[in-house]
Amino acid sequence: MSESHRTVHPVDPTSQQRLQKVGLEYRLIDTTSDADLDGFQRADARGFHDQEPTGEALAQSRETTRERRNLGVFDATAGRLPIATVNSWVTSLTVPGGELDMWAISSVTVASTHRRRGIARALLEGELRAASAAGVPMVGLTVSEATIYGRYGFSSAVPVARMTIDTARAGWAAAPVAGRLLYTDREELADQLARLHDVSRGARAGQIPGWRGRWLRLAGLGVDDKDGAAVRGIRYLDADGTVQGVMAYTLSEIPGQFRFELRIRTIVTATDEALRAIWQFVISHDLVTRATVDLRPVDDPLPWLVADQRAVGVEVHDHGWLRILDVVASLTARTYQRPLDVVLAVDDPLGFASGRWRMRVGADGRAQVESTDDAADVTLGVAELSAIFAGGVRASSLAAAGRVQAESHVIDALTAAFAADRAPVLSIWY
Ligand SMILES: CC(C)(COP(=O)(O)OP(=O)(O)OC[C@H]1O[C@@H](n2cnc3c(N)ncnc32)[C@H](O)[C@@H]1OP(=O)(O)O)[C@@H](O)C(=O)NCCC(=O)NCCS
Repeated sequence: MSESHRTVHPVDPTSQQRLQKVGLEYRLIDTTSDADLDGFQRADARGFHDQEPTGEALAQSRETTRERRNLGVFDATAGRLPIATVNSWVTSLTVPGGELDMWAISSVTVASTHRRRGIARALLEGELRAASAAGVPMVGLTVSEATIYGRYGFSSAVPVARMTIDTARAGWAAAPVAGRLLYTDREELADQLARLHDVSRGARAGQIPGWRGRWLRLAGLGVDDKDGAAVRGIRYLDADGTVQGVMAYTLSEIPGQFRFELRIRTIVTATDEALRAIWQFVISHDLVTRATVDLRPVDDPLPWLVADQRAVGVEVHDHGWLRILDVVASLTARTYQRPLDVVLAVDDPLGFASGRWRMRVGADGRAQVESTDDAADVTLGVAELSAIFAGGVRASSLAAAGRVQAESHVIDALTAAFAADRAPVLSIWY
Protein backbone atom coordinates (compact mmCIF):
# COMPACT_ATOMS: atom_id res chain seq x y z
CA MET A 1 0.00 0.00 0.00
CA SER A 2 1.24 3.46 -0.77
CA GLU A 3 2.14 5.98 1.91
CA SER A 4 -1.03 7.92 1.11
CA HIS A 5 -3.23 4.91 1.92
CA ARG A 6 -1.54 4.42 5.26
CA THR A 7 -2.01 8.01 6.26
CA VAL A 8 -5.33 8.77 4.58
CA HIS A 9 -7.20 5.75 5.93
CA PRO A 10 -7.06 5.83 9.70
CA VAL A 11 -8.62 3.21 11.92
CA ASP A 12 -12.34 2.73 11.65
CA PRO A 13 -13.91 4.77 14.48
CA THR A 14 -16.85 2.38 15.02
CA SER A 15 -14.59 -0.60 15.65
CA GLN A 16 -12.25 1.57 17.69
CA GLN A 17 -15.08 2.56 20.01
CA ARG A 18 -16.43 -0.97 20.21
CA LEU A 19 -13.03 -2.34 21.27
CA GLN A 20 -12.34 0.59 23.59
CA LYS A 21 -15.51 -0.27 25.52
CA VAL A 22 -14.00 -3.65 26.40
CA GLY A 23 -10.67 -2.13 27.39
CA LEU A 24 -8.81 -2.79 24.13
CA GLU A 25 -6.81 -0.33 22.09
CA TYR A 26 -7.16 -0.64 18.29
CA ARG A 27 -4.50 1.27 16.45
CA LEU A 28 -2.29 1.54 13.40
CA ILE A 29 1.16 0.04 13.72
CA ASP A 30 3.91 2.60 13.27
CA THR A 31 5.64 1.39 10.12
CA THR A 32 8.67 3.59 10.83
CA SER A 33 9.33 1.60 14.01
CA ASP A 34 11.09 -1.76 13.64
CA ALA A 35 9.97 -2.71 17.16
CA ASP A 36 6.28 -2.11 16.32
CA LEU A 37 6.55 -4.00 13.03
CA ASP A 38 8.31 -6.90 14.75
CA GLY A 39 5.65 -7.03 17.47
CA PHE A 40 2.98 -7.20 14.79
CA GLN A 41 4.85 -9.99 12.99
CA ARG A 42 5.41 -11.99 16.17
CA ALA A 43 1.71 -11.74 17.06
CA ASP A 44 0.82 -12.83 13.53
CA ALA A 45 3.13 -15.87 13.80
CA ARG A 46 1.66 -16.77 17.19
CA GLY A 47 -1.89 -16.39 15.83
CA PHE A 48 -1.15 -18.78 12.96
CA HIS A 49 0.59 -21.26 15.31
CA ASP A 50 3.97 -20.68 13.64
CA GLN A 51 7.28 -20.81 15.49
CA GLU A 52 8.64 -17.65 17.10
CA PRO A 53 10.31 -15.85 14.15
CA THR A 54 14.08 -15.36 14.30
CA GLY A 55 15.58 -11.87 14.20
CA GLU A 56 16.60 -12.50 10.62
CA ALA A 57 13.09 -13.58 9.65
CA LEU A 58 11.60 -10.48 11.31
CA ALA A 59 14.02 -8.25 9.41
CA GLN A 60 13.05 -9.90 6.13
CA SER A 61 9.31 -9.65 6.71
CA ARG A 62 9.55 -5.94 7.58
CA GLU A 63 10.04 -5.23 3.89
CA THR A 64 6.49 -6.48 3.28
CA THR A 65 4.69 -5.23 6.38
CA ARG A 66 6.16 -1.73 5.98
CA GLU A 67 4.21 -1.43 2.72
CA ARG A 68 0.89 -2.33 4.35
CA ARG A 69 -1.67 -0.74 6.58
CA ASN A 70 -1.16 -2.84 9.70
CA LEU A 71 -3.56 -2.72 12.62
CA GLY A 72 -3.06 -4.19 16.05
CA VAL A 73 -5.40 -4.63 19.00
CA PHE A 74 -3.65 -4.18 22.34
CA ASP A 75 -4.64 -5.36 25.79
CA ALA A 76 -2.59 -3.43 28.35
CA THR A 77 -2.90 -6.36 30.78
CA ALA A 78 -1.54 -8.90 28.27
CA GLY A 79 1.95 -7.70 27.46
CA ARG A 80 3.49 -5.72 24.62
CA LEU A 81 2.44 -7.79 21.63
CA PRO A 82 -0.90 -7.04 19.99
CA ILE A 83 -3.56 -9.62 20.86
CA ALA A 84 -5.07 -9.30 17.40
CA THR A 85 -3.75 -8.30 13.98
CA VAL A 86 -4.95 -7.48 10.51
CA ASN A 87 -3.36 -5.78 7.55
CA SER A 88 -4.52 -4.52 4.19
CA TRP A 89 -3.37 -2.84 1.01
CA VAL A 90 -4.99 -1.61 -2.15
CA THR A 91 -4.14 -3.75 -5.14
CA SER A 92 -5.47 -4.62 -8.55
CA LEU A 93 -7.79 -7.56 -9.22
CA THR A 94 -7.83 -8.93 -12.75
CA VAL A 95 -11.44 -9.21 -13.94
CA PRO A 96 -12.72 -10.38 -17.33
CA GLY A 97 -11.76 -7.61 -19.75
CA GLY A 98 -9.97 -5.39 -17.24
CA GLU A 99 -8.87 -4.65 -13.69
CA LEU A 100 -10.53 -3.40 -10.53
CA ASP A 101 -9.16 -1.81 -7.35
CA MET A 102 -9.31 -4.30 -4.52
CA TRP A 103 -8.70 -3.94 -0.80
CA ALA A 104 -6.64 -7.03 0.05
CA ILE A 105 -6.83 -8.26 3.64
CA SER A 106 -4.26 -10.48 5.33
CA SER A 107 -2.80 -11.38 8.74
CA VAL A 108 -6.19 -11.81 10.43
CA THR A 109 -5.35 -13.26 13.84
CA VAL A 110 -6.77 -13.12 17.33
CA ALA A 111 -4.65 -14.55 20.16
CA SER A 112 -5.91 -17.86 21.52
CA THR A 113 -6.31 -16.15 24.91
CA HIS A 114 -8.75 -13.62 23.42
CA ARG A 115 -10.81 -15.63 20.93
CA ARG A 116 -14.60 -15.71 20.52
CA ARG A 117 -15.28 -12.32 22.04
CA GLY A 118 -16.07 -10.51 18.80
CA ILE A 119 -12.57 -9.14 18.14
CA ALA A 120 -12.27 -10.63 14.63
CA ARG A 121 -15.73 -9.27 13.84
CA ALA A 122 -14.60 -5.78 14.89
CA LEU A 123 -11.47 -6.15 12.70
CA LEU A 124 -13.30 -7.43 9.63
CA GLU A 125 -16.18 -4.98 9.79
CA GLY A 126 -13.60 -2.24 10.40
CA GLU A 127 -11.71 -3.24 7.24
CA LEU A 128 -14.93 -3.19 5.18
CA ARG A 129 -15.85 0.28 6.45
CA ALA A 130 -12.30 1.55 5.89
CA ALA A 131 -12.25 0.18 2.33
CA SER A 132 -15.64 1.69 1.60
CA ALA A 133 -14.59 5.05 3.05
CA ALA A 134 -11.50 4.90 0.82
CA GLY A 135 -13.73 4.36 -2.22
CA VAL A 136 -12.38 0.87 -2.96
CA PRO A 137 -15.19 -1.18 -4.53
CA MET A 138 -14.01 -4.74 -3.84
CA VAL A 139 -12.42 -6.60 -0.94
CA GLY A 140 -10.53 -9.87 -1.21
CA LEU A 141 -8.72 -12.41 0.91
CA THR A 142 -7.49 -16.00 1.05
CA VAL A 143 -8.63 -18.03 4.01
CA SER A 144 -7.42 -20.56 6.55
CA GLU A 145 -10.95 -21.89 7.04
CA ALA A 146 -13.93 -21.68 4.71
CA THR A 147 -16.35 -21.07 7.59
CA ILE A 148 -15.07 -17.71 8.85
CA TYR A 149 -15.86 -15.04 6.24
CA GLY A 150 -19.30 -15.75 4.74
CA ARG A 151 -20.89 -13.88 7.63
CA TYR A 152 -19.21 -10.66 6.43
CA GLY A 153 -20.47 -11.04 2.84
CA PHE A 154 -17.40 -12.76 1.37
CA SER A 155 -17.66 -15.79 -0.85
CA SER A 156 -15.37 -18.24 -2.49
CA ALA A 157 -15.20 -16.82 -6.02
CA VAL A 158 -11.97 -18.13 -7.54
CA PRO A 159 -11.76 -21.89 -7.06
CA VAL A 160 -8.51 -23.58 -8.01
CA ALA A 161 -7.21 -27.11 -8.58
CA ARG A 162 -4.85 -29.16 -6.45
CA MET A 163 -3.32 -31.92 -8.56
CA THR A 164 -1.59 -35.12 -7.56
CA ILE A 165 0.10 -36.80 -10.48
CA ASP A 166 1.18 -40.42 -10.68
CA THR A 167 4.04 -39.63 -13.06
CA ALA A 168 5.02 -43.28 -13.43
CA ARG A 169 1.59 -43.99 -14.88
CA ALA A 170 0.76 -40.74 -16.70
CA GLY A 171 2.92 -41.05 -19.84
CA TRP A 172 3.67 -37.97 -21.92
CA ALA A 173 1.36 -38.00 -24.94
CA ALA A 174 1.63 -34.53 -26.48
CA ALA A 175 3.90 -33.36 -29.27
CA PRO A 176 7.39 -32.24 -28.23
CA VAL A 177 7.75 -28.52 -27.56
CA ALA A 178 10.36 -26.36 -29.29
CA GLY A 179 12.64 -24.24 -27.11
CA ARG A 180 14.63 -25.36 -24.09
CA LEU A 181 14.63 -25.69 -20.33
CA LEU A 182 17.48 -24.54 -18.12
CA TYR A 183 18.05 -24.56 -14.38
CA THR A 184 17.93 -21.17 -12.74
CA ASP A 185 19.44 -20.25 -9.39
CA ARG A 186 17.18 -19.11 -6.57
CA GLU A 187 17.90 -15.37 -6.80
CA GLU A 188 17.15 -15.40 -10.51
CA LEU A 189 14.14 -17.59 -9.85
CA ALA A 190 12.60 -14.98 -7.54
CA ASP A 191 13.11 -12.27 -10.19
CA GLN A 192 11.72 -14.43 -12.97
CA LEU A 193 8.65 -15.42 -10.95
CA ALA A 194 7.96 -11.74 -10.29
CA ARG A 195 8.41 -10.70 -13.90
CA LEU A 196 6.40 -13.50 -15.45
CA HIS A 197 3.58 -13.17 -12.92
CA ASP A 198 3.29 -9.54 -13.89
CA VAL A 199 3.31 -10.38 -17.58
CA SER A 200 0.72 -13.14 -17.23
CA ARG A 201 -1.63 -12.02 -14.46
CA GLY A 202 -3.89 -10.12 -16.90
CA ALA A 203 -4.72 -13.34 -18.75
CA ARG A 204 -7.06 -14.76 -16.12
CA ALA A 205 -9.56 -13.12 -13.80
CA GLY A 206 -8.88 -13.53 -10.08
CA GLN A 207 -5.16 -12.73 -10.08
CA ILE A 208 -3.53 -9.94 -8.08
CA PRO A 209 0.06 -8.63 -8.24
CA GLY A 210 2.60 -10.37 -6.05
CA TRP A 211 5.25 -8.66 -3.94
CA ARG A 212 8.96 -9.23 -3.39
CA GLY A 213 8.56 -11.21 -0.15
CA ARG A 214 6.13 -13.61 -1.84
CA TRP A 215 8.59 -14.40 -4.67
CA LEU A 216 11.51 -14.79 -2.26
CA ARG A 217 9.54 -17.34 -0.25
CA LEU A 218 8.43 -19.33 -3.29
CA ALA A 219 12.04 -19.36 -4.51
CA GLY A 220 13.20 -20.82 -1.18
CA LEU A 221 14.84 -17.60 0.00
CA GLY A 222 12.60 -17.03 3.01
CA VAL A 223 15.15 -17.07 5.86
CA ASP A 224 12.90 -19.29 8.00
CA ASP A 225 12.12 -21.70 5.16
CA LYS A 226 13.13 -25.20 6.35
CA ASP A 227 13.02 -26.52 2.77
CA GLY A 228 14.67 -23.43 1.28
CA ALA A 229 17.90 -25.14 0.25
CA ALA A 230 15.91 -27.89 -1.50
CA VAL A 231 14.19 -25.46 -3.85
CA ARG A 232 15.19 -25.71 -7.47
CA GLY A 233 14.10 -23.61 -10.39
CA ILE A 234 13.83 -24.18 -14.08
CA ARG A 235 13.06 -21.71 -16.79
CA TYR A 236 11.72 -22.27 -20.26
CA LEU A 237 13.14 -20.28 -23.17
CA ASP A 238 11.17 -20.16 -26.40
CA ALA A 239 12.73 -20.58 -29.85
CA ASP A 240 13.80 -16.89 -29.71
CA GLY A 241 15.53 -17.37 -26.35
CA THR A 242 12.92 -15.41 -24.36
CA VAL A 243 12.05 -16.76 -20.90
CA GLN A 244 8.32 -17.59 -21.10
CA GLY A 245 7.90 -19.90 -18.15
CA VAL A 246 9.39 -20.74 -14.77
CA MET A 247 8.81 -23.35 -12.08
CA ALA A 248 9.93 -23.52 -8.43
CA TYR A 249 9.93 -27.01 -6.94
CA THR A 250 11.53 -29.39 -4.47
CA LEU A 251 12.36 -33.08 -4.75
CA SER A 252 11.85 -35.19 -1.65
CA GLU A 253 12.70 -38.83 -1.35
CA ILE A 254 9.84 -41.25 -0.79
CA PRO A 255 11.14 -43.32 2.17
CA GLY A 256 12.63 -46.68 1.26
CA GLN A 257 12.06 -46.42 -2.48
CA PHE A 258 14.88 -44.35 -3.91
CA ARG A 259 12.15 -42.59 -5.83
CA PHE A 260 11.18 -38.96 -5.39
CA GLU A 261 8.13 -36.74 -5.10
CA LEU A 262 8.36 -33.53 -7.10
CA ARG A 263 6.54 -30.84 -5.13
CA ILE A 264 5.77 -27.88 -7.30
CA ARG A 265 5.75 -24.59 -5.41
CA THR A 266 4.54 -22.65 -8.39
CA ILE A 267 4.47 -22.61 -12.16
CA VAL A 268 4.24 -19.23 -13.88
CA THR A 269 3.96 -19.18 -17.66
CA ALA A 270 3.27 -16.53 -20.26
CA THR A 271 2.45 -18.95 -23.11
CA ASP A 272 0.72 -22.32 -23.56
CA GLU A 273 3.94 -23.63 -25.09
CA ALA A 274 5.89 -22.80 -21.93
CA LEU A 275 3.33 -24.61 -19.78
CA ARG A 276 3.51 -27.69 -22.00
CA ALA A 277 7.31 -27.70 -21.80
CA ILE A 278 7.23 -27.50 -18.01
CA TRP A 279 4.61 -30.23 -17.71
CA GLN A 280 6.71 -32.45 -19.96
CA PHE A 281 9.70 -31.88 -17.65
CA VAL A 282 7.59 -32.90 -14.63
CA ILE A 283 5.94 -35.94 -16.22
CA SER A 284 9.20 -37.25 -17.69
CA HIS A 285 11.52 -36.55 -14.74
CA ASP A 286 13.87 -39.44 -13.86
CA LEU A 287 13.34 -41.16 -10.50
CA VAL A 288 10.15 -39.21 -9.85
CA THR A 289 6.96 -41.21 -9.36
CA ARG A 290 4.70 -38.55 -7.92
CA ALA A 291 4.24 -34.82 -8.43
CA THR A 292 2.00 -32.42 -6.53
CA VAL A 293 0.88 -28.89 -7.21
CA ASP A 294 -1.80 -26.53 -5.92
CA LEU A 295 -3.38 -23.26 -7.04
CA ARG A 296 -3.66 -24.30 -10.69
CA PRO A 297 -6.57 -23.10 -12.82
CA VAL A 298 -9.39 -25.66 -12.94
CA ASP A 299 -8.97 -25.86 -16.74
CA ASP A 300 -5.25 -26.65 -16.62
CA PRO A 301 -4.45 -28.68 -19.77
CA LEU A 302 -2.42 -31.37 -17.95
CA PRO A 303 -5.05 -34.16 -18.22
CA TRP A 304 -4.99 -33.62 -22.01
CA LEU A 305 -1.20 -33.86 -22.24
CA VAL A 306 -0.82 -37.35 -20.78
CA ALA A 307 -1.64 -40.84 -22.03
CA ASP A 308 -3.59 -41.83 -18.91
CA GLN A 309 -5.87 -39.11 -17.57
CA ARG A 310 -6.55 -41.15 -14.44
CA ALA A 311 -2.96 -40.57 -13.42
CA VAL A 312 -3.90 -36.92 -12.76
CA GLY A 313 -5.95 -36.51 -9.60
CA VAL A 314 -7.70 -33.14 -9.51
CA GLU A 315 -9.26 -31.68 -6.40
CA VAL A 316 -11.07 -28.39 -6.87
CA HIS A 317 -11.14 -26.22 -3.77
CA ASP A 318 -11.92 -22.66 -2.71
CA HIS A 319 -9.04 -20.16 -2.76
CA GLY A 320 -9.82 -16.57 -3.82
CA TRP A 321 -12.60 -15.01 -1.75
CA LEU A 322 -14.27 -11.76 -2.83
CA ARG A 323 -16.69 -9.29 -1.30
CA ILE A 324 -18.34 -6.56 -3.34
CA LEU A 325 -18.74 -3.22 -1.58
CA ASP A 326 -19.72 -1.01 -4.51
CA VAL A 327 -22.11 -2.76 -6.91
CA VAL A 328 -21.94 -0.19 -9.70
CA ALA A 329 -18.14 0.17 -9.74
CA SER A 330 -17.61 -3.60 -9.52
CA LEU A 331 -20.13 -4.76 -12.11
CA THR A 332 -19.13 -2.09 -14.63
CA ALA A 333 -15.39 -2.90 -14.34
CA ARG A 334 -15.65 -6.21 -16.18
CA THR A 335 -16.94 -7.33 -19.53
CA TYR A 336 -19.60 -9.98 -20.09
CA GLN A 337 -20.07 -12.79 -22.59
CA ARG A 338 -23.72 -12.07 -23.49
CA PRO A 339 -26.17 -9.16 -23.46
CA LEU A 340 -28.30 -8.96 -20.33
CA ASP A 341 -31.10 -6.81 -18.93
CA VAL A 342 -32.06 -7.70 -15.36
CA VAL A 343 -32.90 -6.12 -12.03
CA LEU A 344 -30.84 -7.59 -9.20
CA ALA A 345 -32.19 -7.31 -5.64
CA VAL A 346 -29.09 -7.56 -3.47
CA ASP A 347 -29.28 -8.17 0.25
CA ASP A 348 -26.23 -7.07 2.24
CA PRO A 349 -26.59 -7.41 6.03
CA LEU A 350 -23.85 -4.79 6.43
CA GLY A 351 -25.57 -2.42 4.00
CA PHE A 352 -22.79 -1.61 1.51
CA ALA A 353 -24.24 -3.36 -1.56
CA SER A 354 -27.91 -3.49 -0.62
CA GLY A 355 -30.49 -2.31 -3.11
CA ARG A 356 -32.14 -3.00 -6.40
CA TRP A 357 -29.83 -2.60 -9.36
CA ARG A 358 -30.73 -2.59 -13.05
CA MET A 359 -27.89 -4.18 -14.99
CA ARG A 360 -27.87 -3.83 -18.77
CA VAL A 361 -25.11 -5.42 -20.84
CA GLY A 362 -24.85 -4.28 -24.45
CA ALA A 363 -23.58 -6.15 -27.50
CA ASP A 364 -20.08 -4.83 -26.71
CA GLY A 365 -20.09 -6.77 -23.43
CA ARG A 366 -19.98 -3.59 -21.32
CA ALA A 367 -22.46 -3.11 -18.46
CA GLN A 368 -24.44 -0.14 -17.29
CA VAL A 369 -25.67 -0.44 -13.74
CA GLU A 370 -27.92 1.90 -11.82
CA SER A 371 -30.12 1.92 -8.75
CA THR A 372 -33.78 1.30 -9.58
CA ASP A 373 -37.21 0.91 -8.00
CA ASP A 374 -38.26 -1.63 -10.64
CA ALA A 375 -39.32 -5.11 -9.59
CA ALA A 376 -36.48 -7.58 -9.17
CA ASP A 377 -35.78 -10.41 -11.63
CA VAL A 378 -33.07 -11.92 -9.44
CA THR A 379 -32.86 -12.01 -5.64
CA LEU A 380 -29.52 -12.81 -4.09
CA GLY A 381 -27.18 -11.91 -1.25
CA VAL A 382 -23.98 -9.93 -1.58
CA ALA A 383 -21.98 -13.13 -1.01
CA GLU A 384 -23.69 -14.80 -3.97
CA LEU A 385 -23.14 -11.78 -6.22
CA SER A 386 -19.48 -11.75 -5.14
CA ALA A 387 -19.26 -15.50 -5.88
CA ILE A 388 -20.35 -15.16 -9.51
CA PHE A 389 -18.54 -11.86 -10.11
CA ALA A 390 -15.22 -13.14 -11.50
CA GLY A 391 -16.75 -15.89 -13.65
CA GLY A 392 -15.38 -18.72 -11.51
CA VAL A 393 -18.71 -19.80 -9.99
CA ARG A 394 -21.86 -20.29 -12.07
CA ALA A 395 -25.11 -18.56 -11.13
CA SER A 396 -26.87 -21.82 -12.08
CA SER A 397 -24.93 -23.70 -9.34
CA LEU A 398 -26.02 -21.16 -6.74
CA ALA A 399 -29.61 -21.28 -8.03
CA ALA A 400 -29.57 -25.08 -7.76
CA ALA A 401 -28.36 -24.65 -4.18
CA GLY A 402 -31.30 -22.32 -3.50
CA ARG A 403 -28.97 -19.37 -2.96
CA VAL A 404 -30.08 -17.28 -5.96
CA GLN A 405 -33.76 -16.88 -6.80
CA ALA A 406 -34.95 -16.17 -10.34
CA GLU A 407 -36.89 -17.80 -13.14
CA SER A 408 -34.84 -20.41 -14.92
CA HIS A 409 -34.44 -18.42 -18.16
CA VAL A 410 -33.05 -15.51 -16.10
CA ILE A 411 -30.60 -17.83 -14.35
CA ASP A 412 -29.50 -19.14 -17.75
CA ALA A 413 -28.97 -15.59 -19.02
CA LEU A 414 -27.05 -14.59 -15.89
CA THR A 415 -24.89 -17.71 -16.06
CA ALA A 416 -24.04 -17.15 -19.71
CA ALA A 417 -23.29 -13.44 -19.26
CA PHE A 418 -21.02 -13.84 -16.21
CA ALA A 419 -19.02 -16.79 -17.62
CA ALA A 420 -15.31 -16.19 -18.12
CA ASP A 421 -13.63 -17.43 -21.29
CA ARG A 422 -10.73 -18.95 -19.32
CA ALA A 423 -11.17 -20.26 -15.79
CA PRO A 424 -10.22 -17.60 -13.25
CA VAL A 425 -7.27 -18.38 -11.01
CA LEU A 426 -5.40 -16.94 -8.06
CA SER A 427 -1.94 -18.47 -8.09
CA ILE A 428 -0.64 -17.05 -4.79
CA TRP A 429 -1.67 -16.91 -1.15
CA TYR A 430 -1.98 -13.53 0.51
C1 LIG B 1 -10.42 -17.03 13.09
C2 LIG B 1 -10.14 -16.02 14.20
C3 LIG B 1 -9.49 -14.78 13.59
C4 LIG B 1 -11.49 -15.65 14.83
O1 LIG B 1 -11.28 -14.67 15.83
P1 LIG B 1 -12.34 -14.40 17.02
O2 LIG B 1 -12.02 -13.08 17.61
O3 LIG B 1 -12.39 -15.58 17.88
O4 LIG B 1 -13.72 -14.30 16.21
P2 LIG B 1 -15.04 -13.54 16.76
O5 LIG B 1 -15.20 -13.80 18.22
O6 LIG B 1 -15.02 -12.13 16.31
O7 LIG B 1 -16.15 -14.34 15.98
C5 LIG B 1 -17.00 -13.71 15.01
C6 LIG B 1 -17.87 -14.78 14.43
O8 LIG B 1 -17.07 -15.72 13.73
C7 LIG B 1 -17.29 -17.04 14.25
N1 LIG B 1 -16.00 -17.72 14.16
C8 LIG B 1 -14.85 -17.33 14.72
N2 LIG B 1 -13.86 -18.16 14.39
C9 LIG B 1 -14.41 -19.10 13.60
C10 LIG B 1 -13.89 -20.25 12.96
N3 LIG B 1 -12.60 -20.58 13.07
N4 LIG B 1 -14.74 -20.98 12.21
C11 LIG B 1 -16.05 -20.62 12.10
N5 LIG B 1 -16.58 -19.54 12.69
C12 LIG B 1 -15.78 -18.80 13.45
C13 LIG B 1 -17.79 -16.83 15.65
O9 LIG B 1 -18.53 -17.93 16.07
C14 LIG B 1 -18.63 -15.58 15.48
O10 LIG B 1 -19.85 -15.92 14.88
P3 LIG B 1 -21.16 -14.97 14.95
O11 LIG B 1 -20.70 -13.60 15.38
O12 LIG B 1 -21.69 -14.98 13.58
O13 LIG B 1 -22.01 -15.64 15.95
C15 LIG B 1 -9.22 -16.60 15.29
O14 LIG B 1 -9.79 -17.78 15.77
C16 LIG B 1 -7.81 -16.92 14.81
O15 LIG B 1 -6.92 -16.09 14.94
N6 LIG B 1 -7.59 -18.13 14.26
C17 LIG B 1 -6.23 -18.57 13.82
C18 LIG B 1 -5.71 -17.75 12.67
C19 LIG B 1 -6.64 -17.77 11.49
O16 LIG B 1 -7.08 -18.84 11.04
N7 LIG B 1 -6.98 -16.58 10.97
C20 LIG B 1 -7.80 -16.44 9.80
C21 LIG B 1 -6.88 -16.25 8.65
S1 LIG B 1 -7.69 -16.25 7.11
